[in-house]
Amino acid sequence: MELKVAGLSKSYKRRKNKEVKAVDGISLEIANGELVSVNGPSGCGKTTLLLMAGGLMSPDSGKVLLGGMDLYALPPEERDRERALRVGFVFQQFYLIPYLTVTENILIPSVGSGTWSLSLRERAMELITRLNLDHRADHKPGELSTGERQRAALARALINKPSVLFADEPTGNLDDDNAEIVLDHIAGYADEGAAVLLVTHDRRVGNRAHRVYRMKEGRFSDN
Ligand SMILES: Nc1ncnc2c1ncn2[C@@H]1O[C@H](COP(=O)(O)OP(=O)(O)O)[C@@H](O)[C@H]1O
Ligand SMILES: [Mg+2]
Repeated sequence: MELKVAGLSKSYKRRKNKEVKAVDGISLEIANGELVSVNGPSGCGKTTLLLMAGGLMSPDSGKVLLGGMDLYALPPEERDRERALRVGFVFQQFYLIPYLTVTENILIPSVGSGTWSLSLRERAMELITRLNLDHRADHKPGELSTGERQRAALARALINKPSVLFADEPTGNLDDDNAEIVLDHIAGYADEGAAVLLVTHDRRVGNRAHRVYRMKEGRFSDN
């Protein structure tokens, strides 16, 4: 199992010591080549689940095994390095760096993980072509359409050939055509052998997934 999440829980503190249980004991397994989608309304805990599963936020309890490795049992620096090497993220808001070009943005994770090399530059060019961004390679994010921005963010997520790809509402800001393109590439990446976890309230996404979970108030529900 490439990704295994067991009994994950997370609460946030609110004013007056009130707690919100954002994720409440979720377990999930994703094999290589599998696209799993978690659907549910805003506020049900999807982003919290994804951040924990992707190694970006420690759970209160539960485990995340990435390629068999217990992510939160690792010292933080080691966890960061493993995440940089093995995990890619796509977010609704793109999070491109505004003063870097598309090509430079795509290469950023290879700098962080120490995998930068000339062949990485070739891979960046290949992804740029695959995602139809050739005419935008030297442009800054501010000069791009939202669809182009998300395609650039997706290329960035794929530069290190991560074994697990996480996507949080990747089509949330996109028109139908670009949503289609981005979902095609995300599904295609699972076909190439990666484990993919997609969380969204967008129902267009469901039919691409090998499995769909419905999430409600921090848990998976039956319907
Ligand atoms: N940093 C935070 N501090 C306090 N509450 C939070 C925080 N992040 C999310 N929440 C709350 O946790 C619940 C789940 O949020 P989230 O995981 O963002 O859900 P979703 O992505 O499905 O919209 C919501 O009630 C939200 O208000
Ligand atoms: Mg969210």
